[in-house]
Amino acid sequence: MTLKFDAKEIQVNGETFEILIDEQSIQKRVTELGDEISNDYKGKIPIFIGVLNGSVIFFADLIRNISIDCEVDFLKLSSYGDSKISSGNVKLIKELNADIKGRDVIIVEDIVDTGLSIVYMRGLIQSQNPSSIKIVTLLHKPEATKYDIKLDYIGFKIPNKFVIGYGLDHTQKYRNLRSIYALKS
Ligand code: IMP
Ligand code: MG
Repeated sequence: MTLKFDAKEIQVNGETFEILIDEQSIQKRVTELGDEISNDYKGKIPIFIGVLNGSVIFFADLIRNISIDCEVDFLKLSSYGDSKISSGNVKLIKELNADIKGRDVIIVEDIVDTGLSIVYMRGLIQSQNPSSIKIVTLLHKPEATKYDIKLDYIGFKIPNKFVIGYGLDHTQKYRNLRSIYALKS
């Protein structure tokens, strides 16, 4: 399939996805988040922890809007598989390489849905004794979130719909779309 970067609608296996957040709006918001985080961490050297694979696009754009010194590392959790619904269990596939003891950690997520992944990750990172942990997520589905978790920086709150693009996949595809599309109901 040939992707049109400025398409308003996309057909995926007989289902229609419509544009939810366009490229310009994403870029504007990511710039704002970068400014806010740079300001909050002035005088510190935070380490951004990206959650693979979904957060890579957001991660790359976000850190290029960080105007203070920072470091990066990545971890990977098991995914939904090919389903659109959270499997309800999480597994660590790739551990951190960095020593985060005493560090200011910022977890970078693409989307918080049920909240299970972020609860799991927070526990995992907490056990390595960082000095602080904050969470930044590009998207949050408040209606779907079942766990009590503090999200420090949120790009956009979105309705409880399945979304693709800007790093988010459907059966591993469509991560390369520049805008975010939601399944039409
Ligand atoms: P949670 O553990 O239920 O919060 O799910 C978090 C993870 O599921 C995210 O990091 C995404 O990788 C994936 N996910 C949740 N909702 C969507 C969606 O609408 N589209 C694509 N991936 C999603
Ligand atoms: Mg993810």
